[in-house]
Amino acid sequence: MGKINRIKIRAVGDILLADGYFDIGYGIGSYLKRNGLANHVAELEKLLLDDCDLLLGNLECTIARETKLRGLRSREFLGDPRFVKRFFEHFSFNALLVANNHVGQHGERAYIKTLHFLKSMGIWPIGAKIFGDNLFKILEIKGKKIGICGFSMVEDEHNKDPYFYARDLDGREVLEAVKKIKKKCDVLILMLHWGWEFMDFPHIEQMKFAHKLIDEGADIVLGSHPHVLQPVEIYQKKIIAYSLGNFVFNMPWEKTKRTGVLEIICEENGGRIEYHPKFIPAYIHDYGFPKTSDDNFCGSNSFFLTGHDIQDIFISRFGSNDSYLQQYVKNMKILRKKRVNEFIKNIHRMEIKWIPQIIYEALKRRLSFLLKSE
Ligand SMILES: [Fe+2]
Repeated sequence: MGKINRIKIRAVGDILLADGYFDIGYGIGSYLKRNGLANHVAELEKLLLDDCDLLLGNLECTIARETKLRGLRSREFLGDPRFVKRFFEHFSFNALLVANNHVGQHGERAYIKTLHFLKSMGIWPIGAKIFGDNLFKILEIKGKKIGICGFSMVEDEHNKDPYFYARDLDGREVLEAVKKIKKKCDVLILMLHWGWEFMDFPHIEQMKFAHKLIDEGADIVLGSHPHVLQPVEIYQKKIIAYSLGNFVFNMPWEKTKRTGVLEIICEENGGRIEYHPKFIPAYIHDYGFPKTSDDNFCGSNSFFLTGHDIQDIFISRFGSNDSYLQQYVKNMKILRKKRVNEFIKNIHRMEIKWIPQIIYEALKRRLSFLLKSE
């Protein structure tokens, strides 16, 4: 039997269309308000528009004009729909993951507004537990049923009770969802917010779990949260992108700026669906927006892992679980230094009233990190 259907999927990592922790007044949200998107459209088009049938990403902020928070925190990770609209008008995402540690931080009402906003833009919010059934969606594309399901598997310091979105730390619910949804679709895409931040390689336990997900029926796993790219593994001819890194995000460390778009062609061949991945590299430039890049790191064996024993790779890279964790602590230290430097460099761009609050909130986060890592 010849090739019948060809479905082109493109997926990106974290999208922050707001100011973050350290760039209040000059971050991406403020930039969009002042300058719009015009300067970045051409480059974004190269990455996001290419006759794809399905465009996916992780929305790492709230999009609303209200918040339950006050002071500095009311400005962080809150995108203004009036300015964010442009981005989604131009780039028609089909679905965005709304199960992560920032999308709910402005409270339930703001979260619901975010879901309304996405739906008004024709985007399916994946992983929401409220406002109808948004845990998963099955889209019919070229006669195939494509199921998209999403969960967060990380702690959320902002939004504890209740969780508005699908969150499962031990993976039991994720596995159940995979088994259930797989029966209803031809291709199952699982979007997971997981892993260790700023690590460029997944944890061994995460890799074992990813294999289990594929064994139970997932066809494509799309990871986000670490803010850096991690390898894409081809396992049982299925695709596991452990972390797609940042896509639109303003962070001061080079590692967090290396990004790109994962393209997967799903092709039916002899009654089976085959998955052909390709990575289009990009680099995040000023103001947090990506441009295509000539970097060919994604052509290397260490980016597309295939047929390897993951345990061997993990051990040759890190030796043990303890050294993985030590590397994580080291990375957090590097990032903190970079953030302090960036903060000092840009202090003149901030309103004076925010400066003591930025320092206070950063110290609070540092303390909670130290308590957690004890
Ligand atoms: Fe995250």
